Amino acid sequence: MAILSIPEKNIELRDPAEIRSFFNDRGVYFDQWTCDVVFDDTATQEEILKAYEKDLKPFMDQGGYQTADVISINKLTENYDAIRAKFLAEHTHSEDEIRFFVDGQGLFWFNLENEPVFNLLCQKGDLISVPAGTKHWFDAGESDPFVKAIRIFIDMSGWVPHYTDSRIELKFEDFRVPN
Ligand code: LAC
Ligand code: NI
Repeated sequence: MAILSIPEKNIELRDPAEIRSFFNDRGVYFDQWTCDVVFDDTATQEEILKAYEKDLKPFMDQGGYQTADVISINKLTENYDAIRAKFLAEHTHSEDEIRFFVDGQGLFWFNLENEPVFNLLCQKGDLISVPAGTKHWFDAGESDPFVKAIRIFIDMSGWVPHYTDSRIELKFEDFRVPN
């Protein structure tokens, strides 16, 4: 279940309807999909995509998205520190960044114009679409990361991060992914 936090205002939203309307007001798409299949570590990308097909297919058809894959980060992931660093610096992309959390968790941070920075703790069942050009960063935690997520996209070239070099993420270093 997602949790939305605005650290500078000490605000936390846990009600999915409130979170959805918060994002809706800002042109960001948030949704939650359910699925009864439980995956273990041996689940293949195809099995995961198949299990979510009833939500995934209409979403992709409607948005004109061409491809989906599954990304897995866990404590066996090599070079995690380097991978983490790439996501942790504020950046934008030229296409929407869409992630559906099949399992695990991570914090998506948003830096929109004229309002305080906020983050969404994404967990199993949460879908977030970060619009192209939106300043954001992501953290799955300092150690013991666990993320299994479906990535949905038009063209992989849209994923190239354009770093802002603002270093604003450093202001929020103390805000941690929960254990
Ligand atoms: C990315 C995220 C995690 O760029 O922000 O893949
Ligand atoms: Ni990104």
